[in-house]
Amino acid sequence: MDDVLGYQGKAVVVTGAASGMGQATTQILVDLGATVTALDIKPTTVPVARALQIDLRDRASIEEVTASIDGPVDGLFSCAGLPGPPFSEWDTILVNFVGARHLAESLVPKMPEGSAISVISSSAAIGWQDHIKVITGLLETKGFDAAVEWLTANEKKWSWSGYAYSKYIIDAWVGWWYPELGRRGIRINCINPGPTETAMMPAFQDLMGKDTVDQAIGPVGRYSTPEEQAWPLVCLGSPRFSYVGGEVLWTDGGWNGAMTMGRHQAQWAQDTERIMSEKR
Ligand SMILES: NC(=O)c1ccc[n+]([C@@H]2O[C@H](COP(=O)([O-])OP(=O)(O)OC[C@H]3O[C@@H](n4cnc5c(N)ncnc54)[C@H](O)[C@@H]3O)[C@@H](O)[C@H]2O)c1
Repeated sequence: MDDVLGYQGKAVVVTGAASGMGQATTQILVDLGATVTALDIKPTTVPVARALQIDLRDRASIEEVTASIDGPVDGLFSCAGLPGPPFSEWDTILVNFVGARHLAESLVPKMPEGSAISVISSSAAIGWQDHIKVITGLLETKGFDAAVEWLTANEKKWSWSGYAYSKYIIDAWVGWWYPELGRRGIRINCINPGPTETAMMPAFQDLMGKDTVDQAIGPVGRYSTPEEQAWPLVCLGSPRFSYVGGEVLWTDGGWNGAMTMGRHQAQWAQDTERIMSEKR
């Protein structure tokens, strides 16, 4: 069977295309025959059809870029992200969720039936269901400015970690939005990667300590490569996965399953908010 994942000739948009998982996703999509528009604040080295600079912290930048993208957009891969310190909690939540959501919402009118949005969240979202009350207020906001207003008014609720909060909300967002998107024939899903060898990793190790980060290694026994995250993301966005929607796929080497069954201990995952607050 040729074109197994159905990307030949499809128009896709990838954020975070300059580095790590987004770069790997971009390369795979180019190799699979997609026409890729790569978005990042930095330049990408992948030979894409079109590369545009975007700053996901900035509503005007997002709107300028989306206005310049002609439809149809068959796939959006939302890979850009910041790790928290040394970046500010504000920049982190703006890039990871507020800007990512604004970009996705701005592109949806150009997305035909059968298209898909595939987002990178994190295994740091573990336990997100315990935070639904705090998450829902932000999910209910309409648009970039309203999200910023909510975040300003509720800073105490999330600023202990813009990173963890942004990942809780992405896991919630896919289930929240799919009922609407599904009616238009558009799917949204996310992956929850475990620790991955990318440019972001030193920031996690500096903040939490390597031993703490290593508690998130699953039974697989090692960090993943960017490609090991990009492939599941590309699969989720493929039209072959047409019955998978509003889903969180744990790409964590078995960590969440082992944690759920009490076969692995990660202290911070049980008490993330207290431990992350102490680190700041
Ligand atoms: N590396 C890990 O261990 C790990 C684990 C779980 C989840 N993640 C998530 O994976 C995703 C990809 O991260 P990565 O590990 O490949 O890191 P990375 O640093 O290699 O890539 C992140 C990309 O986002 C881009 N970016 C940053 N700020 C931006 C902005 N304002 N506007 C546009 N683009 C911007 C960067 O330029 C970079 O190309 C992120 O969402 C991250 O939170 C990473």
